[in-house]
Amino acid sequence: MAFATHAPYPAGRPRRLRRTDWSRRLVREHEVTVNDLIWPLFVIEGEKTRQPVASMPGVERVSIDELLRDVEEAVALGIPAISLFPNTPDDLRTADAREAWNPDNLVCRAVRAVKERFGDAIGVMTDVALDPYTAHGQDGLINDEGEVLNDETIEALVKQALNQAAAGCDIIGPSDMMDGRVAAIRAALEEAGHKHVHIMAYTAKYASAFYGPFRDAVGSGARLQGDKRTYQMDPANAREALREAAMDVAEGADSIMVKPGMPYLDIVRLLKDNVTLPVFAYQVSGEYAMLKAACANGWLEERKVVMESLVAFRRAGADGILTYFARDVARWLAQEKGS
Ligand code: PBG
Repeated sequence: MAFATHAPYPAGRPRRLRRTDWSRRLVREHEVTVNDLIWPLFVIEGEKTRQPVASMPGVERVSIDELLRDVEEAVALGIPAISLFPNTPDDLRTADAREAWNPDNLVCRAVRAVKERFGDAIGVMTDVALDPYTAHGQDGLINDEGEVLNDETIEALVKQALNQAAAGCDIIGPSDMMDGRVAAIRAALEEAGHKHVHIMAYTAKYASAFYGPFRDAVGSGARLQGDKRTYQMDPANAREALREAAMDVAEGADSIMVKPGMPYLDIVRLLKDNVTLPVFAYQVSGEYAMLKAACANGWLEERKVVMESLVAFRRAGADGILTYFARDVARWLAQEKGS
């Protein structure tokens, strides 16, 4: 540092500020509030159905009627937004992913049900990527050699995004990592009159092994052949995230996202320092599973470790966090307020 900001010991005693709770609160730099949370939820067909996801203890796939109960609690707790992920029935997963633009597909029915019931009391986000709808589990369309095709996929993604917007979704989250998809989706939304729909670009989405439990939850894991390394980013790269961000900003994204979260907080900070749009981070399924497993064994204390993980996101610069812990955290925060 170019200037001396601190007296040396013993005049300088950093512990002075840490002595009491009031003092720690007074000098605290970052905070997690309910307003920072987006709650991802898995939807299935049926009624009165709640199916546990084995690799994500505490997380369930829920039918739309049950979803409405969960969303009611989210609204009561003040969670600003949810993100919906469908577990598509097997017979609707095809090579061309056409279920993605069926106006009555599962996720569209879920969006309509939530919006009809709760209106603008909560924001609804949906994922744009073809993996819930392809027979092979890739996020895009493939050719005979198994190559994921960029430009052909974009056409499909545009249809998917328009379909979700027509159902009433508030935030479109392109998680597919095709080049140029944000611009194509933005133009199509404008043309169709969906000018208020927010695009939260999965900007720096890495080809990560931390997505395993999510792929179980949506049923795409077992069918996935190969990996996603030709479109998702190499975990070894940081500078490349700046390029992705610059493109998404130029293409008309409203906010950007980093995914996974905890192992990629350096990327959150990098984007926060270089982009003026809000920056979100996704604490993904594998991060949730790790924390849950350690807590179930009594090796970590759940409430403390979860709150610490989330304040770390805030410290790194995240404006908001997608986390499967959102409801737990909102409940804890409400308790604190009440006590
Ligand atoms: C789909 C998608 C994935 C996640 C969110 N959207 C999985 C993937 O890309 O394979 C992962 C979320 C999580 O692990 O919690 N493209």
